[in-house]
This record gives sequence, C-alpha cells and structure tokens, in this order.
Amino acid sequence: MIKNILRPFNFILTMIKVRFLIQKIDNLCPFEGKLGENIFYQDVLPTEIIKELKKIYKENNKIYIQFTNSSKLTIEKIFNIAKPLLRDYMGPNVFLDGMSFIETEPNLNSGLFINQKKKYFAENWHTDNVGTRIKCYICLDGDGSQPTLILKSKKNKITFIEWLQYILIEAIRWSGIKFKYNFNNTKYIFHKTSTISFFDTNHLHRGEYLKNSKNRLVLIMEFSNPSKHSLLTGPIGTNKKNNFLFDKAFLEIENFKDLIDIKRIHYINNSTILYSNKIN
Ligand SMILES: [Fe+2]
Repeated sequence: MIKNILRPFNFILTMIKVRFLIQKIDNLCPFEGKLGENIFYQDVLPTEIIKELKKIYKENNKIYIQFTNSSKLTIEKIFNIAKPLLRDYMGPNVFLDGMSFIETEPNLNSGLFINQKKKYFAENWHTDNVGTRIKCYICLDGDGSQPTLILKSKKNKITFIEWLQYILIEAIRWSGIKFKYNFNNTKYIFHKTSTISFFDTNHLHRGEYLKNSKNRLVLIMEFSNPSKHSLLTGPIGTNKKNNFLFDKAFLEIENFKDLIDIKRIHYINNSTILYSNKIN
C-alpha cells in the first residue's frame, strides 16, 4: 500500500537522478565506433560457439551460470567483438555486470513474463532509466519472431526535450496503457540463432513477443559504468540474477579481463571465480 503511494515520487526521483547525476557520468562517454553510428550492432557467431553456450545452458545449475576452462575460446571470441565496441562507445569505465540465460516461450505466461506487469514493461516503448548501458543478446535459439525494436534519439546524448518525452512515455507505461506506436525510424534487431546483438538501453526500445512461433533462448550480458550503481536502485549492476562463475584461466584473455571489474571477483576455490558484488 505504502509502496504504491510512494511509487510516483520514486519515479520522479529516478527520472531526476538519471538526468542530473547519471547523465553527468554518461557525458564522459565518447559514443564512437560501430555502436555510436546506430546505437545497436549485430554480428554472427560461429556455430560451435552457439553449441558450447547451449551446452552450458543445459548444464546450468540454476543458481549460477558456470563457465569452465573448456569455454575459454568461446569467451575469447565473444569478448573480441565486445571490447572494441564498448570501449569506442563508452570509454574506459565500462565493465561487465553479469550474464543470464532467458528463455521465452510462445505462451506469454512463462519465461520472461512471470507476470503481466513484467510483460507491460518489456513490450511497451521505454528506456531502462539507468542512462547509457549496453545489453548484449546472444541468440542460442530463435527464428527472429521475438525482435527488439529500437528508436535512436536525435543524438547519442539525450536532449532535455527528449528527456521530457521519455518521462511522459514512462508515465504512460506505469499507468498500464499500452504504447507500441509504430515510429517511422524504428530499427528491428532480429534475434535469430547465432546472432550477437548489442544495443544501448538509454534509447527508446521495446520487445516484440506476440508474433513468436518458437521459443527464444538468449544469453544476456550487461555492461555499464560501475560509478552509477550506488546512485540507482533500478535494473543495473551485478545481482543474484546475473552473477556467474568462471575459470580463472579466463583472466588470461585480455579482452575479457579488461571488461571485468576486479572488485567483483571472488575466488571460491583454486580455479573458480564468482563474479558478484559479494559472496552470497
Ligand atoms: Fe528495456
């Protein structure tokens, strides 16, 4: 009850924080490179990498995703694509927040859509209210029928007018009204098996799930500037849903190591590292 009363105030507070604290941090981003051109980028990964990731998904112990030494080459190939994109777009202060598998089924009551509220959140136009943050979807199974739609703002730095528009759009979403307007310059990121897609969740985006005919399985990675984490209570950073285990040999992979935040590394034995804010 009290939570519901406070919701509009929290919402306004978040939007103000995003504009005046978070944007200050984001203003240091160079917004260059391939991501800078379109705010999204897609590539295709070799089949053996997808097979390896699917194997990890099947072996997933449901608490943490665990990458063993045998996945070293897979991680290397993924981060060889990720690092230059992220560094060009966000500069040196961008790190991996976490990894999680998400499977969405044609039945909207399962997978991502545990409840109706979550469905509204993903399907309607929105920004994630955390400023510049890159999400990467690696599609392990998909026919493109559950794409991400994205609308680039006029500039990579969101203008004041756009910020006001986003508040309005967010207020529409919070009130439960559907907002799936077909904007002219909408770009579609089709998640088909083997694609790896990066996009900035600071720009308007939404998921399209209704036309799906097939389950979609993706590995999601998130990248952001850690100085934002203590300023926001929103969906950013490393948490129980996206922390993961990896073999210490991965730290020999330069492009992976450079995107790993040393403060979030915890050795749980001689060879395994838990990537987490703290040991749970
Ligand atoms: Fe989102």
